[in-house]
Amino acid sequence: MRFPIIAGNWKMNTTVAEAIELTGQVRKGISNGFSVEVVVCPPFISLAAVKEALKGTSIKLGAQNLYHEEKGAYTGEVSPLMIADLCEVVIVGHSERRQYFGETGEIVNRKISAALKAGLKPILCVGEQLEDNEAGQTAEVVTEQLRSSLEGISVSSDLVVAYEPIWAIGTGRAAHGKPVNETSAIIRRTLTELSNQEIAQGIRILYGGSVTAENIAEFLEQSEIDGALVGGASLKADQFISMVEQAEYIYFPNNPPTKDLIPW
Ligand code: 13P
Repeated sequence: MRFPIIAGNWKMNTTVAEAIELTGQVRKGISNGFSVEVVVCPPFISLAAVKEALKGTSIKLGAQNLYHEEKGAYTGEVSPLMIADLCEVVIVGHSERRQYFGETGEIVNRKISAALKAGLKPILCVGEQLEDNEAGQTAEVVTEQLRSSLEGISVSSDLVVAYEPIWAIGTGRAAHGKPVNETSAIIRRTLTELSNQEIAQGIRILYGGSVTAENIAEFLEQSEIDGALVGGASLKADQFISMVEQAEYIYFPNNPPTKDLIPW
């Protein structure tokens, strides 16, 4: 069985003080007895403070990006070794990085390779534009992104893939469970070709794009979706805790929710 992941990508939000405050609120609602893997990804500048604020919990810390070199004259960049010192997880190839910072498949490939070498668990983001979706090109786009990002890399179940259709990110217009499940099945088929059946079956595939406490169950109930990468709603502690509780309940029904945060 694949253990589900609920990850919060805080993007470029929260000062250090706000990040500590949000972490404090989140940790109050998430019991250490949960089996769901919970990850928060604050901005670089807050990583050390949030690590401290997470002490004594099983919540994992992730970074939102990394540079592929280990050290040197790369002003403004953060290396895999620095991140591995604080975090277990790193988001790689987010569509905002591809769109605003020119990250190509080749760059993403180097970053995935560097993250794995440093012992980090990368969350590799893939996803199509609206035009690709409307033209029925989702499978081709996502498959090509996976191939270029993972070319020459020995894929293991340390890898996590987040399928984030670009048109669903930050728009309030989430995709639907069934088509996301179909795309996730295509992603797993490609991962099988790039590794083998056993490894591909162990890789978690998350959905991201306008996920909230109100719609997350639709995704978590699908057989090929193993959790969510949440942006905006992860900045609201109640929403994030509710999403984790729902995941716990859906995947481990014998572990009933501790609070009345489930919307149904
Ligand atoms: P939103 O949940 O704000 O749509 O963002 C999704 C995302 O990009 C997570 O990485």
